[in-house]
Amino acid sequence: MKVAVGCDHGGFHLKEAIKGLLEKQGIEYKDFGTYSTDSMDYPDVAKPLAEAVAAGEFDRGILTCGTGIGIGIAANKVKGIRAALCHDTFSAHASREHNNANVLTMGERVIGQGLALEIVDIWLHTEFEGGRHAKRVDKISAIEE
Ligand code: RB5
Repeated sequence: MKVAVGCDHGGFHLKEAIKGLLEKQGIEYKDFGTYSTDSMDYPDVAKPLAEAVAAGEFDRGILTCGTGIGIGIAANKVKGIRAALCHDTFSAHASREHNNANVLTMGERVIGQGLALEIVDIWLHTEFEGGRHAKRVDKISAIEE
């Protein structure tokens, strides 16, 4: 599995912790930045990361900012992206099983690192159930046409 990770200044520390988890699990990743806590605009990271995931260069993307909201809204503007904001483990499971989310977003200012890393672990290792959910995800894609 290849994962793309990115953040703005508000999500920098969480992104670094996520990279540590990916390394521990031997998961290949690319860091799209930002690379410090210097203030920057989250769409500048969300767009290239989302485009790379949508193009199939990566299996999944993980984006963090202060809340996980802005960076997720930006990622969802890219065709083919289903970015899900998950701050609990139930949503992490469901966003994969039901929605086939290909980008996970989280807010460093919202949840603790322990829970965030558990969410990442679940989200990366949970598969899409397909079936009745596939029809619904296909209808989401049809909205993009
Ligand atoms: C940056 O201050 C903050 O607005 C950003 O990280 C994010 O929370 C936006 O949704």
